[in-house]
Amino acid sequence: MKNNFSRREFLQTASVAAGSLVAANKMSAQAQPILLPMAAIPQQTASSDRVRFGMIGIGMQGSGLMGMSVNLPGVECVGAADLYDGRHTLAKEIANNPSLPTTRHYQELLDRKDIDCIVAAVPDHWHKRVVVDACNAGKDIYCEKPMSHTIADGFAMVDAAKKNNRIVQIGSQRVSSVLCAKARELYQQGTIGDVSMVELTLGRNDPTGAWVYPPPTDLSPETLDWDTWLNDAPKVSFNPLHFARWRCWRNYGTGVAGDLMVHLLSGMFHTLGWNEPPRSASALGGIFRFNDGRDMPDLHTVLFDFHGVPVYVRLGLGTETPELARFMGPKGVMDTGEFDLKVFHQPGIDLSPSYYSSGFPQKMREEYIKQWHAEHDPQLGREPVNEDVVYRGHDWDDMAPHLLNFFQAVKSRKPVVEDAVFGNNAAIACHMANESYFRKKPVMWDAATKTAKS
Ligand SMILES: NC(=O)c1ccc[n+]([C@@H]2O[C@H](COP(=O)([O-])OP(=O)(O)OC[C@H]3O[C@@H](n4cnc5c(N)ncnc54)[C@H](O)[C@@H]3O)[C@@H](O)[C@H]2O)c1
Repeated sequence: MKNNFSRREFLQTASVAAGSLVAANKMSAQAQPILLPMAAIPQQTASSDRVRFGMIGIGMQGSGLMGMSVNLPGVECVGAADLYDGRHTLAKEIANNPSLPTTRHYQELLDRKDIDCIVAAVPDHWHKRVVVDACNAGKDIYCEKPMSHTIADGFAMVDAAKKNNRIVQIGSQRVSSVLCAKARELYQQGTIGDVSMVELTLGRNDPTGAWVYPPPTDLSPETLDWDTWLNDAPKVSFNPLHFARWRCWRNYGTGVAGDLMVHLLSGMFHTLGWNEPPRSASALGGIFRFNDGRDMPDLHTVLFDFHGVPVYVRLGLGTETPELARFMGPKGVMDTGEFDLKVFHQPGIDLSPSYYSSGFPQKMREEYIKQWHAEHDPQLGREPVNEDVVYRGHDWDDMAPHLLNFFQAVKSRKPVVEDAVFGNNAAIACHMANESYFRKKPVMWDAATKTAKS
């Protein structure tokens, strides 16, 4: 079973490194590519038409983003910043350019006039500063999910994007996938009727899936600017495990909520056309398996209230279960998995006499059954045909189209698919899930103060 975001990114990164980009048009069957061909950036681009980006953070995700981006037509990486020197080497390798300018100081990229935009894949506790600095420097920015590390951070980022009129794309790439587009189209056509409940679930069962990553072997206070890496987090001495496994600690990461739930929630927003914080979140969970010093739960269940619709989420790192977003309505069920989208139609009416009639005396029962058949039986040869449909794509989420959507917007100034307001709303839900878990009580969204209240 391949239900693990980071494993997927590894495969994508590896294929990019081998010079064989996993192309956006490699999907099969009914789901249609939504972004290619790229109108705004033609294959043969004059140098003035090219989009030049600076890369900030070239770790597990940044290496994949950078590899994808440099393979997009008309897109060029002209500089890279990372606090760890090993990633300067990696950036030059990915760009296939030993002279690519690299630095520990991302501000140098922001100061460069020849850089149009930034792609950033830094840990969550750095998102706000990088996005706000980029916007204030007049750069558009693609920033990884979850958009923010705290609720307040998210609003500061939205304000910076608005104030500077900058394009900000948040990196929950599944909203650019063909399967997500198909799910949205089907929902808007009324395929399942008005949604009455959503279930979002995903489980992993291996140390890598639980972020137990091996630190780079040459990591040291000499090769890494540790003090800067900490940003506003409490000062602690150099710790390679914090560097590689930052997701495990609240000071740097946002747990399974910000790592995994945000993808499922963003896909749900896009499918249903929602874009708002939940009214409330009520979470239960704990550290059941990876009791390795982390403070973030490895099992997190949440019940959200989105304008009255219950959205149940279950994420776990201790048992592997397939990734599933299940949308339920009066006309049926839409199941969106990693590689396919299944629609199960339900007529929502009785197809036979009610079994309640087994409690009727014989004469009454027989009359009721006879009457029912007379009123409901279809004409012979005209019985309804119920169809269930499966749409297959090559992946539920899709990094290349999502990046392409951003680079196109940098040139066209048209809105991106996942702007700062969308990213902020999805992230707020994750923060509310974490707040409820840590406070051990439900939290409500208070729009007036932009905070989660108990
Ligand atoms: N969209 C997805 O499917 C997906 C998948 C994985 C990770 N992510 C997101 O990508 C981001 C990065 O995750 P990762 O796993 O690549 O982390 P990582 O730790 O592997 O890499 C982060 C890199 O950022 C660098 N960095 C930190 N602060 C910096 C600064 N101020 N200036 C320059 N470089 C800095 C670090 O040195 C490190 O090399 C996170 O927000 C994560 O949630 C998204």
